[in-house]
Amino acid sequence: MRINGYYCRVFMLFTYTTFLVLEFVTRCSAIEVYHEWHVSLDTNVSPLNVNQSVIAINEMFPGPLINVTTNDVVHVNVFNNLDEPLLFTWHGIQQRLNSWQDGVSGTNCPILPHHNWTYVFQTKDQIGTFFYYPSIQFQKAAGGFGAIRVNNRDVIAVPFPKPEAEFDLLIGDWSTEDYKISKSMMRNKDVNSYAVPKFILMNGKGPYGNNLSKSFESFTVTRGKSYRFRISNVGNALSLNLRIQNHEMLLVETEGSYTNQILLDSLDVHIGQSYSVIVKTNQSEADYYIVASPKLTNTNDSSDLLGIGVLHYSNSTRGVTGPLPTGPDPFDVEFSRNQARSIRWNLTAGAARPNPQGSFNVSNVTLSHTFILLGSLEEISGLPLYAVNNVSYYTIGTPLKLADHFVNGSGVYQLDAFPHDSVNANASYGISVVSGKHKGWAEFVFKNKMNVMDTWHLDGFGFFLVGFGDGDWTPASRDTYNLVDPVVRSTVQVYPGGWTAVYAFLDNPGMWNLRSQVLKRWYLGQELYIRVFDADPDPAKERPPPENLLLCG
Ligand SMILES: *[C@@H]1O[C@H](CO)[C@@H](O)[C@H](O)[C@H]1NC(C)=O
Ligand SMILES: *[C@@H]1O[C@H](CO)[C@@H](O)[C@H](O)[C@H]1NC(C)=O
Ligand SMILES: *[C@@H]1O[C@H](CO)[C@@H](O)[C@H](O)[C@H]1NC(C)=O
Ligand SMILES: *[C@@H]1O[C@H](CO)[C@@H](O)[C@H](O)[C@H]1NC(C)=O
Ligand SMILES: *[C@@H]1O[C@H](CO)[C@@H](O)[C@H](O)[C@H]1NC(C)=O
Ligand SMILES: *[C@@H]1O[C@H](CO)[C@@H](O)[C@H](O)[C@H]1NC(C)=O
Ligand SMILES: *[C@@H]1O[C@H](CO)[C@@H](O)[C@H](O)[C@H]1NC(C)=O
Ligand SMILES: *[C@@H]1O[C@H](CO)[C@@H](O)[C@H](O)[C@H]1NC(C)=O
Ligand SMILES: *[C@@H]1O[C@H](CO)[C@@H](O)[C@H](O)[C@H]1NC(C)=O
Ligand SMILES: *[C@@H]1O[C@H](CO)[C@@H](O)[C@H](O)[C@H]1NC(C)=O
Ligand SMILES: *[C@@H]1O[C@H](CO)[C@@H](O)[C@H](O)[C@H]1NC(C)=O
Ligand SMILES: *[C@@H]1O[C@H](CO)[C@@H](O)[C@H](O)[C@H]1NC(C)=O
Repeated sequence: MRINGYYCRVFMLFTYTTFLVLEFVTRCSAIEVYHEWHVSLDTNVSPLNVNQSVIAINEMFPGPLINVTTNDVVHVNVFNNLDEPLLFTWHGIQQRLNSWQDGVSGTNCPILPHHNWTYVFQTKDQIGTFFYYPSIQFQKAAGGFGAIRVNNRDVIAVPFPKPEAEFDLLIGDWSTEDYKISKSMMRNKDVNSYAVPKFILMNGKGPYGNNLSKSFESFTVTRGKSYRFRISNVGNALSLNLRIQNHEMLLVETEGSYTNQILLDSLDVHIGQSYSVIVKTNQSEADYYIVASPKLTNTNDSSDLLGIGVLHYSNSTRGVTGPLPTGPDPFDVEFSRNQARSIRWNLTAGAARPNPQGSFNVSNVTLSHTFILLGSLEEISGLPLYAVNNVSYYTIGTPLKLADHFVNGSGVYQLDAFPHDSVNANASYGISVVSGKHKGWAEFVFKNKMNVMDTWHLDGFGFFLVGFGDGDWTPASRDTYNLVDPVVRSTVQVYPGGWTAVYAFLDNPGMWNLRSQVLKRWYLGQELYIRVFDADPDPAKERPPPENLLLCG
């Protein structure tokens, strides 16, 4: 294994005590992990008996698992065999000091068709369950996604017994329309008539028992053991409720934070969110249904819009039986909100480092910024667009990060022109970039006045999820915040007619994307960038551009 001296030097700056010498040695022997991906449109891997091109990686859909450990250095050499530019983003991987590898339009030039480019990033100080996908051109609707596991280093205790095995479970809605047609029509016409979800897939497979499915997902387990399921909602439009017939799920982790362990009959997983649950196979030898059903949507057992897989006990001789397990009323928002509120950080569990997760105490932080962000559907020059505070993000050819590096942003975007805590009276386009104070605490309040779910994701950071509320947010809403043990994650749902508040400690300089994770909202402009600027050019603070930096724009 090659040793990357850069990471050792960086760490040395922080390492003066003998206590950390062991830590230092472990880090300097960071493992390098290599992937070579050939990305193409492929009709063979389409999940349904529908002639549909799917974005496959090495002819696989979903793409290959990235299975790494804290501080590993991952190299992904991406060969773009699509007929369009391509970028991958690593959802939830914080890219510490290194927004150069974030893979969104504001940080990277796309990989052109018939070209390849190698991402190199470190899973620094992280553990947890994440996933990746293409970030531009609406390509995520056509697949290209896959699971990322960041395992704990051996020296760090995990707060639950080692399971018999781990399974990745990528659930998400799926449209059978060609993604290129969806994206061109959506831009011009009725945004709600295109890219409409028709199925819910599990690991890229259609529902069990559906005559359009080419196959269905099945997990083989041994009776009397425990299994870890790493669940992510890789979909584009729908929040999902997940459950397993006759089995409870012990929630243990979300997006890199160990949670207080709670037993659940069913779990709401919103778009872009990830969870780990432990399932005990303590029922009789049989096969059991695994069901993912949409929130805020009526379905019945014969609806296409149900993800259905199977938990197969190895000695079972009979297939699944009985009705599908029922979940909560999909329209019961209060149930969902209460479940979300009950997901707390386990303050005594270690995570990537030996110190407890909860050594960050947010009960007493001084906020340096408040961003109040309203996502909405607007119309500009007769075209439907999504906006934040009535500004729809306009994607330019020059990545903002490059503009910053070469010309300090000048002439490309106007820093802080975006209305960070109010809604403009008129809808407009904008290249929205706001300043985040380096090492300041930011409060973000996400508001949703529409009658559908919204989800927000921040690159570069985990945020402390301090509150959910119904109705309008006012400063008095802060009295309801949970500042004691809020969970840290990177993606959060906003209920119809409600708000969600998070705190983020902006200790990661760079250019960071904040976006709706609902794909059509993101694609049509519901995003902005947070520029966290550190005037110190010391590369130990922010990394220089990679040697293979692509230029464009
Ligand atoms: C699938 O559709 C493509 C064009 O969208 C067409 O070229 C191809 O022949 C079709 N394949 C089948 C098996 O129908
Ligand atoms: C993932 O990596 C861990 C740690 O190296 C290893 O124990 C496990 O077998 C790997 N799993 C897969 C599916 O590759
Ligand atoms: C493209 O792939 C080749 C190996 O086939 C590799 O040597 C080269 O570094 C890659 N190019 C980039 C820009 O990553
Ligand atoms: C929190 O983590 C600790 C340390 O690993 C563990 O012993 C404890 O059971 C966990 N508590 C809960 C409520 O999950
Ligand atoms: C598939 O199932 C649907 C009802 O679920 C039925 O209407 C249709 O005829 C079936 N198609 C085939 C080819 O069996
Ligand atoms: C499954 O069946 C085999 C063969 O009968 C037996 O050896 C094994 O113990 C059984 N496993 C379980 C979990 O019961
Ligand atoms: C099976 O395990 C669950 C926890 O996952 C527990 O609540 C339940 O009581 C157990 N059932 C039996 C039959 O042991
Ligand atoms: C199930 O829902 C579908 C629409 O999603 C409807 O067409 C069908 O009649 C319903 N079936 C039953 C048995 O209610
Ligand atoms: C809380 O804030 C006060 C005033 O800013 C400060 O004096 C105190 O040390 C802080 N306490 C903690 C635990 O950070
Ligand atoms: C967090 O800090 C507050 C005061 O600043 C203190 O009252 C509280 O006990 C601290 N909580 C933890 C878990 O350390
Ligand atoms: C670049 O912009 C920052 C403010 O965002 C400013 O502090 C700094 O002085 C600028 N640098 C140059 C070289 O203009
Ligand atoms: C955005 O501006 C338009 C006028 O251009 C206005 O009709 C609309 O209500 C505004 N949106 C919001 C959320 O205030």
